[in-house]
Amino acid sequence: MSDWLYSDIVQEHFMNPKNVLDVPEDEFSPDGRGLVGNVQCGDQMLVVIKVENDMIIDCRWKTYGCASAIASTSMLSEAVKGMHIKDAYKITPDQIVERLGGLPEHKIHCSVLGDKALRAAIEDYLKRTGREGEIEKQAA
Ligand code: FES
Ligand code: FES
Repeated sequence: MSDWLYSDIVQEHFMNPKNVLDVPEDEFSPDGRGLVGNVQCGDQMLVVIKVENDMIIDCRWKTYGCASAIASTSMLSEAVKGMHIKDAYKITPDQIVERLGGLPEHKIHCSVLGDKALRAAIEDYLKRTGREGEIEKQAA
């Protein structure tokens, strides 16, 4: 792929992003919430999740980030629905970029925003349920 060309999948997710948080956060009433920043560009990403029996039943997000961040998180939010929090915690940006059919080299850092925010949301969920550190320890 040339350095400036976005794949069709990236374009599709950018034009029609899935699972954008389109209601006030309170209304969504998340079980976990992760807000992270990207030091390389200063953009922010919010990911909120609904969890039932440790399964992610809904995942919504909102960002100031660019097209690559939008497409990556759109793809991620689709992928984690119905997934156990332990498996969702292990998803890597590489896996998302692969599903997107690649990203331009200088845009790879944008794809880490969504999964970082997702992990923060899962950690928040565990904290809220008094199980802080449960997954981080296993993943380490
Ligand atoms: Fe900031 Fe892509 S350049 S998220
Ligand atoms: Fe902010 Fe890419 S630098 S969107």
